[in-house]
Amino acid sequence: MLRLRCLLLTGCSFLPLKHQSLLSPIVSCSSSSSVRWKMESMSYTTRSSSSSPKLLFRQLFEKESSTYTYLLADASHPDKPALLVDPVDRTVDRDLSLVNDLGLKLVYAINTHVHADHVTGSGLIKTKVPGVKSIISKASKASADIFVEAGDKIQFGDLYLEVRATPGHTVGCVTYVTVDGPDQPQPRMAFTGDTLLIRGCGRTDFQGGSSEQLYESVHSQIFTLPKDTFIYPAHDYKGFTVSTVGEEVLYNPRLTKDEETFKSIMENLKLAYPKMIDVAVPANMVCGLQDLESKAA
Ligand SMILES: [Fe+2]
Repeated sequence: MLRLRCLLLTGCSFLPLKHQSLLSPIVSCSSSSSVRWKMESMSYTTRSSSSSPKLLFRQLFEKESSTYTYLLADASHPDKPALLVDPVDRTVDRDLSLVNDLGLKLVYAINTHVHADHVTGSGLIKTKVPGVKSIISKASKASADIFVEAGDKIQFGDLYLEVRATPGHTVGCVTYVTVDGPDQPQPRMAFTGDTLLIRGCGRTDFQGGSSEQLYESVHSQIFTLPKDTFIYPAHDYKGFTVSTVGEEVLYNPRLTKDEETFKSIMENLKLAYPKMIDVAVPANMVCGLQDLESKAA
């Protein structure tokens, strides 16, 4: 097992991060006691994708669980190192076929958290592509080759993802964010898992979930990113594919509320018990390889 502060595929000379806070929480003492987030400037860029001379990016979809898997690679590096965020077991062959078609070298399979609605593809990928390392947060207490925590950076070629701890949906949830710097994607990109969804957020009623923590995570770790940062969630059930920090600060129907209202919303969702949870969580605690391991035993 490895735990690294900066995961190096090539020599790492790292760049200082600028944690710009372009949004100011303005508390409105209205009778509804709602919190309104006021934009410092309402004119923000609404580009449809990030640009970087290096980044190759694909958003992939698994329809049974409405899960997004993201493929990122440094296409300008001789090895074309790539990683997959939140791969699903059912679509591993599709994803690896794409990696192959694009001439990429897959180096990491990383998860934002221990999923309850699908089995991760990380373990299966490791059996099919020797050398791939699985990554998950240390706080998740799941199995993986590499454990990360807040402030760690995952390097692939000359590109980086910064790890931000965003507990609340589960105790071990993290958000992976591209960094500022030469040739890094602009606007930045945040892979939020189930912490922040487009016009929503993940449930907080199991797996050590906490509505209080989720509220704090989103406001301190995601809404403080530049407002043009793209939000790429782990799921969408309405057909949305991408949002921005600026959009969610203005329009997220849950996280624009004050904390007490948010907690009340989350306590009264009355959601059904997830149908896959009893299969998915035990499997995902062991990198999605529970079936393979029990067959080998
Ligand atoms: Fe989840």
